[in-house]
Amino acid sequence: MATSSSSSTIARLSFSTTRFPGPEPGPDPKSLSFHSRPRTCLPLKHSSERPSRSVVRAVAVTGSDQAMEIDISLSPRVNSIKPSKTVAITDQATALVQAGVPVIRLAAGEPDFDTPSAVAEAGINAIREGYTRYTPNAGTLELRQAICHKLQEENGISYAPDQVLVSNGAKQCIDQAVQAVCAPGDEVIIPAPFWVSYPEIARKADATPVILQTSISENFLLDPKVLESKLTERSRVLILCSPSNPTGSVYPKKLLEDIAQIVARHPRLLVLSDEIYEHIIYAPATHTSFASLPGMWERTLTVNGFSKAFAMTGWRLGYIAGPKHFIAACNKIQSQSTSGASSISQKAGVAALGLGYAGGEAVSIMVKAFRERRDFLVKSLGELAGVKISEPKGAFYLFLDFSCYYGTEADGFGKIEDSESLCKYLLDKGQVALVPGDAFGDDTCIRISYAASLSTVQAAVERIKKALIVLKPAARS
Ligand SMILES: Cc1ncc(COP(=O)(O)O)c(C=O)c1O
Repeated sequence: MATSSSSSTIARLSFSTTRFPGPEPGPDPKSLSFHSRPRTCLPLKHSSERPSRSVVRAVAVTGSDQAMEIDISLSPRVNSIKPSKTVAITDQATALVQAGVPVIRLAAGEPDFDTPSAVAEAGINAIREGYTRYTPNAGTLELRQAICHKLQEENGISYAPDQVLVSNGAKQCIDQAVQAVCAPGDEVIIPAPFWVSYPEIARKADATPVILQTSISENFLLDPKVLESKLTERSRVLILCSPSNPTGSVYPKKLLEDIAQIVARHPRLLVLSDEIYEHIIYAPATHTSFASLPGMWERTLTVNGFSKAFAMTGWRLGYIAGPKHFIAACNKIQSQSTSGASSISQKAGVAALGLGYAGGEAVSIMVKAFRERRDFLVKSLGELAGVKISEPKGAFYLFLDFSCYYGTEADGFGKIEDSESLCKYLLDKGQVALVPGDAFGDDTCIRISYAASLSTVQAAVERIKKALIVLKPAARS
């Protein structure tokens, strides 16, 4: 390709991509199209390994023709992190739907409801009233005061507005918090199954994710003894997520108290408590904020947001609360990246918190619908012999052990070996998009998001069952 310019100083460029020697991933017949790693670079095992590197050749027309090679290799930081598999699968399923394939999408972590109208109206009014300028970096005082009120009333934790930072989503809050407190080589303790972003956020901060396995038989709850055995002087942050994505588990208060007792013995250890699914909880389960436990306020960073409970994923609004020293550090990081969250979204956030205790009726209607879908899924998929289920107590995900199907095969597809090939099979043959458990650190399971109407979830179950019934034990090779 060539572009020309009348200016003699602007070169006519001809681009050709040349691959420098370096490791290249070979084709994997079983691999899905939703790759979790960039295709042009394999992750470096050692910093001395040379990445695969592409160059763009530019040919200048001014003066004597010169070939100039531009190095377009990426930083080791980028090469060390994986893109989100949930996003990749959701995008792939959307592309299939756009191409006319009737895929049922149960991969995304996004409520299928509209933002409550009173909240949307507040955003619209903000625009109409010209409330469209930069806000303070930490968020408007109005919103931070409303957050303080909510945390006091609903969670029993006291914060002043300067102990709260509003960001563009809870993800940004978590990212900044980990960056703010971790030195290179520090450990971020993450119970598995985990939300896909936690380990990558740790790596991005040059910290080391330390994964603690939990089991379906223990409802995916962290065993305090396992935690105790893995803590070292390098352990800097323990990430807790309750209700959990991907398992829907809710930590009972007593278990959190046992964890708090262990945390209390480690002066360097902070806790990042991700409470974004707090309101999506099924009675009799109840939510306990980790910071409300004795002695934990000083070392807990509480993260929450509007995306899930208020169906506001696109508004990009979340917050973090904690001791001023840590919040000021997060604030500083944000001031050099995105600055404050959208002024319009912040007005909507105030309206969301004004809906009433735990989101009032608008949220309880959504929770009731989620609960109905959960009950249907647990019952209908529980009928499948060999499938293991831990009934979710919150969020809108079911994390099922489907490993009984590993080692089977289907005509025209081949062998199912793991969560990835099972999800590929269910997408190919059943046209249902689900997320393989290995993305969440547990390859025995797959995640079903029931953020879709009951009739959609019912149709998906029918398809899944139909696809599974034809599987047979794989022939020995
Ligand atoms: C456990 C968990 N924490 C945080 C987030 C980020 O939410 P937000 O949309 O506010 O960035 C998500 C979104 O999927 C999540 O599942």
